[in-house]
Parts: sequence; C-alpha cells; structure tokens
Amino acid sequence: MTALSGMASLVLLAITWNRLMDALDAILTRRTVPPAKMGPPGPDAVELRRILAAGAAAPDHGLLRPFRFLVVQDEGRARLGELFAACVRRAALDVSPQEIEKQRTAPLRAPVIVIVVAKVEQDHPKIPAIEQIAAAAAAAQNMLLAAHALGFAAKWATGRQAYDEGVKAGLGLGPADRIIGFLYLGSYAAEHRAAPRGGIEDIVQAWPPAMEG
Ligand SMILES: Cc1cc2nc3c(=O)[nH]c(=O)nc-3n(C[C@H](O)[C@H](O)[C@H](O)COP(=O)(O)O)c2cc1C
Repeated sequence: MTALSGMASLVLLAITWNRLMDALDAILTRRTVPPAKMGPPGPDAVELRRILAAGAAAPDHGLLRPFRFLVVQDEGRARLGELFAACVRRAALDVSPQEIEKQRTAPLRAPVIVIVVAKVEQDHPKIPAIEQIAAAAAAAQNMLLAAHALGFAAKWATGRQAYDEGVKAGLGLGPADRIIGFLYLGSYAAEHRAAPRGGIEDIVQAWPPAMEG
C-alpha cells in the first residue's frame, strides 16, 4: 500500500465511523412529538424527498416494494380531517360534536402527513404477508429517523382511522391494503417532555438460558 492510498483509507474509515455515529445518534435521540406541539414549516420539497427516499430504502424481502407513501399537505389535510370525522361518526352514533371537530381538525396541526401503506400481496409464493407489513413498518421508522436527522418533529400514529374501511376507500386504497401509520411531520413549536424509556435488561436474554444447578 502506498503512503497516499494508506492515508485515503484512513480518511475513508474516519468518514464511515463518523456516519455510523450519526446514525446511532439519530436512532437513540429520536422521540415522538405530538402534532399539538408542532408547527410550520414542514419539510420542504428537497427535505421531503430525502425523507421519502429513506422510507424507500427499507429492507424488503423479495424486493416487492410492498409500501406506498401518500403525502398529505396544504388542502389535503382538511380532506383527511373529513375522512377522520366521518370515521368516528360511523363508529358511534352518540359521538360528541367536540370529538367530531377534534378529528376534523387533527391533521391540520402538522404541516405534512405521510400515510404509510402496506400493499400486501396475500398469496405471494415466497414472502408471507407479515414480512411485507414488516417492510412497510421499517419504511415508516426510516422516515421518522430521517425527519429527526433533518431537525423535524415527528409522530407515528394509527388509531381507529388506520383500520377503517371508509378511510381506506377515501384514500383510494383497496381492501388488501393496510395503513401502517400516519406520520405527522413538522417543526418543533413547543417543549415536549418524552416519557422515560425502559432499559434493555427486561427484553434481552441469552439463549439458550444458563443451565441451573
Ligand atoms: C404501529 C404504531 C402505531 C402507533 N400509534 C399510536 C397512536 O395512535 N397514538 C399514539 O399516541 N401513539 C402511537 N404510537 C406510539 C408512538 O408513536 C411512540 O412511538 C410511543 O409513544 C413511544 O414514544 P417514543 O417514540 O418517543 O419512544 C404508535 C407506534 C407504532 C409503532
């Protein structure tokens, strides 16, 4: 190895290491921010493209690309609010006018909403539905992380609306499509104290477990 190529390798190693740390920082510092604590601006066109590209970079068994991202902004948010309001009206006859109004205005609190949809091919010969849904969930998490890395607040939410056939039809989705989540994206507008996270002790164990006695 020449002195020059040795130096180039060192520089490359330093850059790679630095990127690795950035990714870990983003993963470990990301916290959910409720849309009520968000405000404008949302990601601009270039930032949004990077966020969506991060979603499309999710691991995907069989390269089926079993996910779609519906980008809702501007007037589209009011249309989404109408679908949410209709959803709670359908769910309960005695729903209060306040609840209907809350649902109608819910999407207006975030400048951008990305709806992550799993396009599930039920009878795929090799890739079961759960893996296609897992790929779409990985896409959602990639987008949350990308938004966080770009300095935006974000929340992944589902609720009754995600499982409502009327909402799905209103979004142009078919019966086999699954809404994985509504990703609310915006700027930090108010302080939010995230709930403490548990450690890893309760969820990690060696396998096989140590033999007793
Ligand atoms: C599939 C999925 C659906 C979720 N739906 C909701 C929801 O409808 N409402 C809610 O408050 N949190 C929901 N969450 C949880 C929050 O997005 C958040 O991850 C959780 O409160 C933990 O906070 P953290 O992200 O700061 O660790 C959902 C998370 C996932 C993975």
